[in-house]
Amino acid sequence: MAKDSKDKFSTEGLKVPESLGVIMDGNGRWAKKRLLPRSAGHRAGAENLKELCRNCGRYGVKYLTVYAFSTENWSRPQSEVDQLMKLFVEFFEKYDPELEEEGIRVRFTGDIDALPENIRKVCREGEERSAGRQKMQLIVAFNYGGRREITQAAQSLARDVAEGKISVEDITEDSLSSRMYLPDVPDPDLIIRPSGEMRISNFLLWECAYSEFWVSDTLWPDFGYDELTSAFRDYAKRDRRFGGLSKKEG
Ligand code: IPE
Ligand code: IPE
Ligand code: MG
Repeated sequence: MAKDSKDKFSTEGLKVPESLGVIMDGNGRWAKKRLLPRSAGHRAGAENLKELCRNCGRYGVKYLTVYAFSTENWSRPQSEVDQLMKLFVEFFEKYDPELEEEGIRVRFTGDIDALPENIRKVCREGEERSAGRQKMQLIVAFNYGGRREITQAAQSLARDVAEGKISVEDITEDSLSSRMYLPDVPDPDLIIRPSGEMRISNFLLWECAYSEFWVSDTLWPDFGYDELTSAFRDYAKRDRRFGGLSKKEG
C-alpha cells in the first residue's frame, strides 16, 4: 500500500464526522463520458469505494455508510442488476485483505433477508470475518430503502402490540429507532452526494433528520481524497442547531 505523507490526514481546519453517509451515484454517467458500458462505471465505482474506506479510516471517521443498491434499483435492466450483484460479491473477495489491513469492520444495512442466498452468505461471512476490527465500521446499504426500513420497524412494533408484549403508548421515537436495521449506528452527521443530484433517493430517511448535506458535481468514480477533504472543511463551518439556537447566541 502506498505511503501517505505525514500530514495528509491532518485534521487542522477540518471537522471529521463521526458518522458519514455517501450516496455513490454517477457510475453510469462516468462510463458514458468515456464511451464505455455502464458496467465499466460500476467497476470503477467499486474501486473508488476501496479508496474512500481507506481515506475515511485514516481521517478518523468511525461509521461510514455507503449506498450501494437501493430497493428501487431492481427496476434497472436485469443484466445491470446481475452485474451489480456480481461486483458486490467480488468487492469483498478482492478487497477484504485491504479492509483488514486498515482495521475496517464490515456490516450491512437493508432488506438483506430478501436477497438471494449467495449474496446473504457474502454478507454473513463478511460480518463474521471482520467482527473484531476496531478502527472504522463500513456499513454497506444494499437492497436498502428508507421507507422499507421504517415500514419494517413499524411492523415489528405492531407485532409486539398484537401479541400483547407492549402497548400502543410504547411506540415512541426511541422504540421505533430501536427497530431500525442497525440501531447502534449513530445517525449520519454528514451525507455526501456526488454527481450533482440534490435528492435523498430513499437513503437513511429516518436517520437523516438532522444530517448536514454536501453535494458535488464530480461523478462517483472520480470522487477522491481532495473532495472528501473539501467536504470536511465545509462541514467544520456548519452550525448544527438541531432546532435550538446557535452556540454563539445561546
Ligand atoms: C450509482 O451509479 C450506482 C447505483 C445506483 C447502483 P448510477 O448507475 O446510478 O449512475 P448514473 O446516475 O446513471 O450516472
Ligand atoms: C441512488 O442512486 C442509489 C445508489 C447510489 C445506490 P440512483 O441513481 O438510484 O438514484 P436516482 O434514481 O437518481 O434518484
Ligand atoms: Mg444514479
